Amino acid sequence: MAFATHRIVRTLTSSASRSAAIKRVTVIGGGLMGAGIAQVAATTGHTVVLVDMDEDILKKSIKGIESSLKRVVKKKFADKPEAGEEFVQKVMNNVSMATDAASVVKSSDLVVEAIVENLKVKQGLFSALDKVAPEHTIFASNTSSLPIADIASSTSRLDRFGGLHFFNPVPMMKLVEVIKAPGTSQQTFDSLMDFTKALGKHPVSCKDTPGFIVNRLLVPYMLEAVRLYERGHGSKEDIDVAMKLGAGYPMGPFELLDYVGLDTSKFIIDGWYEKDPDNPLFAPSPILNKLVAEGKLGKKSGEGFYKYK
Ligand SMILES: NC(=O)c1ccc[n+]([C@@H]2O[C@H](COP(=O)([O-])OP(=O)(O)OC[C@H]3O[C@@H](n4cnc5c(N)ncnc54)[C@H](O)[C@@H]3O)[C@@H](O)[C@H]2O)c1
Repeated sequence: MAFATHRIVRTLTSSASRSAAIKRVTVIGGGLMGAGIAQVAATTGHTVVLVDMDEDILKKSIKGIESSLKRVVKKKFADKPEAGEEFVQKVMNNVSMATDAASVVKSSDLVVEAIVENLKVKQGLFSALDKVAPEHTIFASNTSSLPIADIASSTSRLDRFGGLHFFNPVPMMKLVEVIKAPGTSQQTFDSLMDFTKALGKHPVSCKDTPGFIVNRLLVPYMLEAVRLYERGHGSKEDIDVAMKLGAGYPMGPFELLDYVGLDTSKFIIDGWYEKDPDNPLFAPSPILNKLVAEGKLGKKSGEGFYKYK
């Protein structure tokens, strides 16, 4: 019994000391994902600096975080509005913004990158930060489709580099895929798992393979639905209804493609096709390519497979 108690205490303290290491977080990219990650980290008591090269985007994101928190508080503190306001203020005090990543990573335990999905741009950012960040600082990318090892290769800290793949909208979605690249040390991986739990999220462990778990299954499924439609096996409306009522999915594949963005989906599938052109699951889709060429990118542009005006 004493041994068991001792073991539990040791486990708790070692886990706590690992998570305690990550207190100060720099989130780079103040867009959709970066703002969500910053919000969740600040809400769970981390000191967060949100970085973007565009100051207007930063201001908009910080405002967006505040509005999102106020919406949460309205429900959670319905009977105690003052406590709710205090909560929002406390969380907002944990977040600041900056346009110069190099100056803020100097006092950061973890850098989470959520910038544009472009390997060269991500490598350029991490290579510059590697030169100024402290030894202990862990780097993580939120990439949806690029190999973590390829991004990490621009730095000299392969052991302190991993993937943290969040889902949209970040404050709502429970899952985070934690990616262990071949160079990621066990200690770094454990710290990332602990950090994810400290955010109140549910982590799953993934290898550094295309699409990790969720997108590797989801993107080929959505593309197969488009092929079914291209072959005339069903209308997009019927395929959506079939998957919702028959498989219990909350959205049909065409609704989901429009929500994710057709350009984003095309970018992912094109990248995989380039690497593995013999895999029929990664074959390009003429209809998807046509819609993207016409600027019909889904919900965000007002039209994709469906119209949203
Ligand atoms: N959108 C999603 O559903 C989703 C889900 C999971 C992962 N991701 C991944 O997250 C990342 C970001 O996606 P997003 O949807 O938030 O994109 P976004 O376009 O909304 O935001 C990207 C932000 O990065 C900024 N930026 C670009 N280069 C920069 C640089 N060098 N330094 C600082 N800021 C820079 C841009 O100004 C922009 O505000 C991508 O890698 C994407 O694949 C996206």
